[in-house]
Amino acid sequence: MALEKAAELVSGSGYVVALVGAGLSAESGIPTFRGTGGLWTRVGEPSMNGYEQFLRDPIRWWEHQLDPGADPARTEFREAIDSAEPNAGHYALVRMERLGILKMTITQNVDNLHVRAGVANLVEIHGNRTKVRCIGCEMRWLRESFDYAKLPPLCPDCGSLVKGDTVMFGEPIPPSVIDACFRETALCDCMIVCGTSATVFPAASFPRMVKENGGTLIEANPNPTPLSESADVVLRGPTGEYLPELVNRLERL
Ligand code: OAD
Ligand code: ZN
Repeated sequence: MALEKAAELVSGSGYVVALVGAGLSAESGIPTFRGTGGLWTRVGEPSMNGYEQFLRDPIRWWEHQLDPGADPARTEFREAIDSAEPNAGHYALVRMERLGILKMTITQNVDNLHVRAGVANLVEIHGNRTKVRCIGCEMRWLRESFDYAKLPPLCPDCGSLVKGDTVMFGEPIPPSVIDACFRETALCDCMIVCGTSATVFPAASFPRMVKENGGTLIEANPNPTPLSESADVVLRGPTGEYLPELVNRLERL
């Protein structure tokens, strides 16, 4: 059975990494992006050159950000996240980490739920919506603690522009973050791919690299993805059910 096989693979591996997408937070009430009920399926994808727009007119971008009624789709997403709590899937990853098995979680989610669930080793490849970041030196601050009296906000340290930490379309992943992702992927011999459509790069390339390096893949997702065929085990269901079951088995091994 898939769960038994997954537990065997995980326990026989030396460096297990989880790659997470929006599906892990679906059971916390946060809509995914693609697929049935996905945010973009309903309201369309955001502008593909968001970062360029930000650089062209950062004052306008910040005015829009600070105006609570500016964008109904964003308001819906924000309200869903604000009222969300980590679910059994987030806590299962934390349990697996505390067992010493899961070495790193690489998440595409910006919702801060891994942190709230108590994860210790986390790379947030698309940023964290509770933070803002300097585009020059990569310093980060809590969004609510930064001063927006004068727009655009500038880094007190290096004077560069400050933006939301969430990575926009057209924006490079911050160098220290992408370096950490490649380092962890190179170390990884078993990647658990949780609730991601595996269609957004570079994140979607990490499981493929693990496979090329001779490692194994476990996919936890109720729906097929482009990765499913190359996965060694597929847990075909919600992560809030399957990940706790997987950890229960690991605890018994
Ligand atoms: P997607 O919306 O592309 O995919 C969500 C995946 O979650 C799908 O494969 C679903 O089948 C799966 N899913 C749905 N319910 C689930 C459940 N209960 N348990 C497990 N899986 C479930 O989301 P991502 O792959 O995360 O970037 O999208 C990647 C990136 O696209 C996002 O990080 C976002 C967007 O561009 C930024 O915001 C920068
Ligand atoms: Zn700076």
